[in-house]
Amino acid sequence: MGHDRWDSAVVYQIYWRSFMDANQDGIGDIAGLRARIDHIHQLGVDAIWLNPTYPSPQGDHGYDVSDYFDVEPMFGSLEEFDRMIDDFHQRGIMVLMDIVPNHVSSQHEWFQSALTEGAGNPSEEHFIIRDGTGPGGINPPNDWVSIFGGPSWSPFPSSGRHLQRWYLHMFDPCQPDLNWHHTDVHERFENILRFWLDRGVDGFRIDVAHGLFKAPGLPNRSGFGDNWSACWDQPEVHDIYRKWRKIVDEYEPSRFLIGEIHTATRERLLEYLRADQLHAAFDFSFLHQDWSSDGFRDRIGANLDLWNDTGCLPVWTLSNHDEIRHWSRYAPLLADRSPDGQVANIRYRSLLALIMALPGRIFLYNGEELALPQADVPDEDRQDPAFFRQTPDSDYKGRDGCRVPMPWDANLPNAGFTNSEPWLPMPEGWHDYSVSIQHDDPNSMLNYYRSVIQRRRIEDWMKSDSIDEVESSSDILSFVKKTENKRVRVLMNFSDSDFPFDNDNTIMRTSDSDISDSFLRPGELAYIEI
Ligand code: NOJ
Ligand code: CA
Repeated sequence: MGHDRWDSAVVYQIYWRSFMDANQDGIGDIAGLRARIDHIHQLGVDAIWLNPTYPSPQGDHGYDVSDYFDVEPMFGSLEEFDRMIDDFHQRGIMVLMDIVPNHVSSQHEWFQSALTEGAGNPSEEHFIIRDGTGPGGINPPNDWVSIFGGPSWSPFPSSGRHLQRWYLHMFDPCQPDLNWHHTDVHERFENILRFWLDRGVDGFRIDVAHGLFKAPGLPNRSGFGDNWSACWDQPEVHDIYRKWRKIVDEYEPSRFLIGEIHTATRERLLEYLRADQLHAAFDFSFLHQDWSSDGFRDRIGANLDLWNDTGCLPVWTLSNHDEIRHWSRYAPLLADRSPDGQVANIRYRSLLALIMALPGRIFLYNGEELALPQADVPDEDRQDPAFFRQTPDSDYKGRDGCRVPMPWDANLPNAGFTNSEPWLPMPEGWHDYSVSIQHDDPNSMLNYYRSVIQRRRIEDWMKSDSIDEVESSSDILSFVKKTENKRVRVLMNFSDSDFPFDNDNTIMRTSDSDISDSFLRPGELAYIEI
């Protein structure tokens, strides 16, 4: 197989609402993104991934789509969107969109027709609507639970019926699940794909790609012992991706399909990555991996095995809009030992250098290049529907803490993100992370990110898919990357002590130790030519 433009792509995720606000309503938009395109260009990434761009009541911040053929007016117009794609393409940056096929917004006309055309109307068949159980149908049809907490059913108008009816929503009630057993739904999504591909979009990140179909008869999960076998990952979904793959394959240059896929077993994941289906699946394991050399070795090994079994190159990611920012995941442990944050800084740098040296695709999340931590959002300012569906005893606060807007300019109110109230408040000290401060500081995290991304562009060994000797011993992770004329060992110290190493041919290291210092600091990584 020849080289594809997506094989070693570095992709930068843009969370619309938090990137840059140009029209001063406190929420990011297309004009804001276009105004900051140089930031992305200077980072040196190959592509961007845009969180949902479609018109949406924003009940789940865009993952509740009310029209798949337009752009959310708060973000801008379709015309501006087209111009934005051109802007990125002119700079050689590809554009990946989010597509949300499992559910629509309850405001979408498909659901509105189902709701208003009277019981039993044909539009109801596009959703999953069932009679309730118990006297008068007072209880939901089965015991499925929503990912955001609580039952995954809400009452549906039942006029003139004997029993209360319910509609299924695996997420928030504002996100009714579509009935993928209906072929109208298939056709609609094929049209949606073509609509955006024709506009020049370079591919799609498929939301909840393991969703769509539900087990026949909607059996109680208690019978299965889990939520998976009944609600997710049904065999019919693969025919859909076979069709989608055929569609994207009609386009030149190559388009890309990457799934957000959760499956109960590894074998089930393989099914999505058959040659005639998706090009890639996210790997979420680094988002939940403790600071452990063996742990990282195992995760890397599992990803390489998956690639070996499927031919689909791996995807590495440390943060996204659903998870705790990785600065906060890996740094707080260090508070006692490292009052100046130095070790945390080294760890953070090493994690980027680690993924950048692995074969496959890299997904970065906006703000990680500034070393943004997870923000502490006061409960009264929280917006995430997942927060509002928690029971009182839950510690889970939802996902707002990783979505606080980008700080651009330390000298401006709201760090230059907006002149009005940002949609989520910026915590104290947020200005200190601003691009304006980091831009010209050679030691800033931003310049570190730029330099490593730039290095990967130039150095073939980093992009190379030839990797071996992935090992972990005494808290030291190591592997070797190769091209025809270069061999580089990547060494990373997960321990709390200095580790002696032979550094004669060190190309780069992630502490500010002198290059000739032959101790790898705690948390430090080195690239060493061998
Ligand atoms: C996964 C998305 O990443 C998340 O933000 C969203 O809430 C759910 N899918 C539902 O669409
Ligand atoms: Ca705005």
